[in-house]
This record gives sequence, structure tokens and C-alpha cells, in this order.
Amino acid sequence: MSKAKKKILSDIAGICCGIAVLATGIISVAMAPKTAAAAESGTAPGTVLAVAEAEHTGKGVARQVETMSGVTVLHAADWEEKYPEIYASFMKNQENDEIVDYLKEYPQLVTLYEPYGFSKCYGSARGHFYDVNDILETGRPHAMAQCWTCKTPDFTNLVNETGPEVYQYSFDDMRELVSEGISCYSCHANDPGEITVTHTYVIEALGADFEKVPAADLACGQCHVEYYFYPGTGVTSLPRFDLETMHPDAILDYYNNVLVDENGLGFADYTNPRTGVRQIKVQHPEFETFLGKGSIHGSTYTCADCHMGTVIGESGTAYPSHYLTSPLENQALIDAECSKCHQDLVSEVRAVMEKVDTRTTEISDLLVDLTEKLAVAVESGEYTEEELDAIRAIARDAQFYWDFVFVENSEGAHNPSLTNECLDKAEALTNEALGMFTA
Ligand code: HEC
Ligand code: HEC
Ligand code: HEC
Ligand code: HEC
Repeated sequence: MSKAKKKILSDIAGICCGIAVLATGIISVAMAPKTAAAAESGTAPGTVLAVAEAEHTGKGVARQVETMSGVTVLHAADWEEKYPEIYASFMKNQENDEIVDYLKEYPQLVTLYEPYGFSKCYGSARGHFYDVNDILETGRPHAMAQCWTCKTPDFTNLVNETGPEVYQYSFDDMRELVSEGISCYSCHANDPGEITVTHTYVIEALGADFEKVPAADLACGQCHVEYYFYPGTGVTSLPRFDLETMHPDAILDYYNNVLVDENGLGFADYTNPRTGVRQIKVQHPEFETFLGKGSIHGSTYTCADCHMGTVIGESGTAYPSHYLTSPLENQALIDAECSKCHQDLVSEVRAVMEKVDTRTTEISDLLVDLTEKLAVAVESGEYTEEELDAIRAIARDAQFYWDFVFVENSEGAHNPSLTNECLDKAEALTNEALGMFTA
């Protein structure tokens, strides 16, 4: 089984020109204009450009949002007139409407995430268009407003204009203030055309490395990252200090040894009631994985190059599609760009993903076995607390490395090397813990 969605290959990044897109996409390989200016004269609408031929706002350095400046959020619809094609492509995110029930597809999760909300209700992600709807409909309870961090610019703006105390608002009070899901403000503030990081925790977590990361990676890396809520204040925070410390080893060290409570215990999102393991729940570390050690394309492409292919509009001007789709479903992008090196990108990448998915599932079976054996050991009374704690510590680390892969939405495609490194560690640690039972 694969998390990968089986979608038809008909969606070609743009909004216009249905069938013509495919044909012109292929022609553009042979007749590709060499500059964006050339692209404006004569290339057929709907054509997707090779990366080098497009102008990319996202390759530059991002702006940092101004706080306490009295600004209110402009809505996507406010920009429709000025940027009709971008707006239309943005609205196309409605088409990504499929949800996979992870608990049905991966029943191991019910055990591994017990008793956390994700063990009761866990649907796959879908298009940005649905994010407010999805957070309201999840069966997981939300107490505080912090859960709105990655869902709506209304909350982002409130944090920026009021201060961190709004993280402690109640979820439902905040709900009254939400007028729109992820929108132009999220990535541009009120100035589309400029990329602005509006989530200040991203700025803090990168420190001096902020300028080293292309703007388009930071735009997505505001939410497609591993984060936690600071104990007590509930402030959304990232478990790292710079680019170097966003490696999974360093993140685990942060949770184990930096973010400790008054008893010296490392941070935990939840504790399994049967085993007593204080677990870390990882969340979608796409940014860390794609820009991490071993990434083939981490230094040559941005998230936008693969997920927001540049399209020639009806007016002949190129624009980045804001329909955030898989490059594997963007045949025109594959023809114009990826096929320069990849003979059959789709099969090649799907094969990598399938292997990762199979291994991830196998390791989750091992982790379930460990969980059940540990629960029996706890129940048996035959182990000292010290002995149990030694097993618990290793079980916690093992599940962290497995989850780092499981919840990363590309199933290995972003960085097969780092992904396999995590799976190797998860597997070795699980086996180590399984070897510690004496009875
Ligand atoms: C999830 C983040 C995100 C959202 C939401 C978003 N954009 Fe963008 N936008 C980007 C990125 C990233 C780029 C740069 C793409 C590149 O360089 O390849 C960009 C580029 C642009 C550009 C510059 C185009 C160019 O030719 O350089 C404009 C204008 C723009 N966006 C308008 C909008 C409008 C209007 C909205 C809302 C309807 C919007 N964006 C929503 C991320 C976003
Ligand atoms: C403000 C937070 C935020 C930003 C910024 C953001 N995303 Fe997302 N993204 C989300 C959330 C939340 C979801 C899940 C929505 C749902 O399922 O309701 C999501 C879902 C997606 C999906 C669909 C995943 C699926 O399984 O179908 C893609 C693709 C995606 N984002 C790509 C991007 C890219 C590329 C960027 C940068 C240009 C970006 N996102 C920026 C929060 C964000
Ligand atoms: C080299 C191309 C490439 C780059 C660059 C890239 N991705 Fe991806 N991404 C992929 C591929 C391939 C997949 C798997 C798509 C599939 O399942 O069809 C993927 C999947 C995803 C998904 C899940 C989408 C889905 O439909 O399930 C998200 C979310 C995502 N990427 C976000 C990002 C973010 C954020 C960045 C930048 C930090 C990024 N990607 C950079 C190629 C890329
Ligand atoms: C300049 C050559 C080049 C271009 C252009 C290129 N790639 Fe790659 N890509 C590579 C190489 C080399 C690898 C590593 C292959 C390996 O390890 O077997 C790779 C690996 C990948 C992987 C990791 C999974 C795998 O198959 O190993 C993904 C995903 C990927 N590329 C996506 C893309 C996408 C999407 C495009 C077009 C937007 C693209 N690539 C364009 C050279 C390229």
C-alpha cells in the first residue's frame, strides 16, 4: 500500500488551455526561449517553462514581517483583479480534495500514538483550500488557539500585532476571528510579489542562517516543518537554532537534552499509558528533509521549482502557478525541466517512494511489537523502574526516527539518503530495545 495518491496525469500546472497545454509543453523542449523576456513574446499560453528560463522571486532573500505595525490582513480575493491568473491558480487548490484515513491504512498508528489525538482521528493532508474546514472537522480536540498557527493568516497577524499571549486564547474564541485559510498574506504579507516570512518563529529559529535559505523554501518552511508548542506559554516554536541543528539527530538531542522539565525529563507530546514511554510526535518535516544532508536537489531547486511550475499566461507573461501540485503530476514541468536528466521521472521516483513506504510500514510493525512487549513487561512487575526506563528511552528515540519519515509527506522523494538514514536508526534502536527484555 502506498500513501501516494493515484491521480490522473491530466493536471498540468496551469489553469488554462486544457489539452493544448500538453502539446505545447512538449514543443517547448525543442523551442524553449532562453530568457523570461523571450518567453513573453510568442510562447503559447499554458506552456510550463524550464527553471532557468523563468524569473524566480523565490530564489532571492525573503523579507521579514514587520510586527506591531497596525496592519490588517488583505484577503486573496482582494488580489484577484491585480493578479487574475495567480489568483485562479491559487483557487485551483480546491481540486486537491482527497483525504486518506491513515488509521485504516496504517492500523499500527492506533498503538503507536496511544492515547494521543492522532490515534483516534488522522486523515492525510490535502489542498490548502481545505485547511480551516479540516481543522474544524478533525476528531481531535483542540484546547488552545496555537493550532491555528499554520491554518490562517488571521492568527499569524494577531500574533504579530498583539504578541505571544494570543497563543493562549481558546481555540473556539480564535475560531470566531478566522475569515480565511492559508492565503496570500501567509507568504507575502500584504505585498504579493515579495516573499515575506510572516511566522516569526521561523526567523528566530534560523538566526544568521536566514539569508542563506532561498525565499521560496522559507515560504513553505513556515509550516512544513517540525515544531512544538513551548510548555506553559503554548508558543509555536522550532526545535533548532540554525541550519546545522535541523538534522534529525540534533532535533532529537534538543528534545532529549535541551528542552527538559524541572525533573530533568526531556520534552514529550504524550505518554503511552501502558508502556510509560514519553513520546515525541513529529510533524511534517519537509523543510528539514529537503534541505538536509544528502539532498540531491536541496541546493539547486526551491520548493517552488517542483511544486509551483512557471506557466505562460493568456497575456503571454509568465507566472508561478499557485496550484501546489506534485511534480509527478505536472507532465509539462517534467518535459521542460526534469527530463533533462531523468529518463522516466515518475517511475523512478515512485519506486523510491514505494520502497520507503514498505520499509516504514515494516518498522512500524516492529515498533508495535516493542510497544506490546514493553506493556507486558511493565505489567509483569519483573523489571525494576531503572530497567524499564532504559528500554523506554531507546523506544522513544526509535519511534522519533520512524515518525520523522512517516509524517514527512514525500515518502522519501525529498531526500532518499536522509530518509533511509532515519529508517536505519529506527530499525536498529527498535531491535536494540527488543533485545533488552530478559524474561
Ligand atoms: C504558500 C505560499 C504562498 C501563497 C499562499 C501565495 N504565494 Fe505568491 N508566491 C509564493 C512563492 C514561493 C513565489 C515565488 C515563486 C518562484 O520564485 O518560483 C510567489 C510568487 C508570487 C508573485 C510573483 C510572481 C513573479 O512573476 O515573480 C506574485 C505576484 C504572487 N506570488 C502573488 C500571490 C497572490 C496574489 C496570492 C494569493 C492569491 C499568493 N501569491 C499566495 C508563495 C505563495
Ligand atoms: C501557513 C502554513 C502553510 C504554508 C506557508 C504552506 N503550507 Fe502547505 N499545507 C499546510 C497545511 C496545514 C496543509 C494541510 C491542509 C489540509 O489537509 O487541510 C498543507 C498541505 C499542502 C499540500 C497538500 C498535501 C497533500 O497531501 O495533498 C501541498 C502539496 C503543500 N501544502 C505544499 C506547500 C508548498 C509547496 C508551500 C510553499 C509554497 C506550502 N505548502 C506552504 C500549511 C502550509
Ligand atoms: C526536486 C523536486 C522537489 C522539491 C524541490 C520539493 N519537493 Fe515536495 N515533493 C516532491 C515529490 C516528487 C513528492 C512526491 C509527490 C507525489 O507523491 O506525487 C513531493 C511531495 C511533497 C508533499 C506532499 C504532497 C502530496 O501530494 O502528497 C509536500 C507537502 C511537499 N512535497 C512539500 C515540499 C516542500 C515544503 C518543499 C521545500 C522545502 C518541497 N516539497 C520541495 C518533489 C519536490
Ligand atoms: C541536472 C540533472 C537533474 C535534473 C534537471 C533533475 N534531476 Fe532529479 N535527480 C538528479 C540526480 C542525479 C538524482 C539522484 C538519482 C539517484 O540517486 O539515483 C536525482 C534525484 C531526484 C529525486 C529523488 C528520488 C530519486 O529518484 O532518486 C527526485 C524526487 C527528483 N530527482 C526530482 C526531480 C524533479 C521533479 C526534477 C524536475 C523539476 C528533477 N529531479 C530534475 C538529477 C537531476
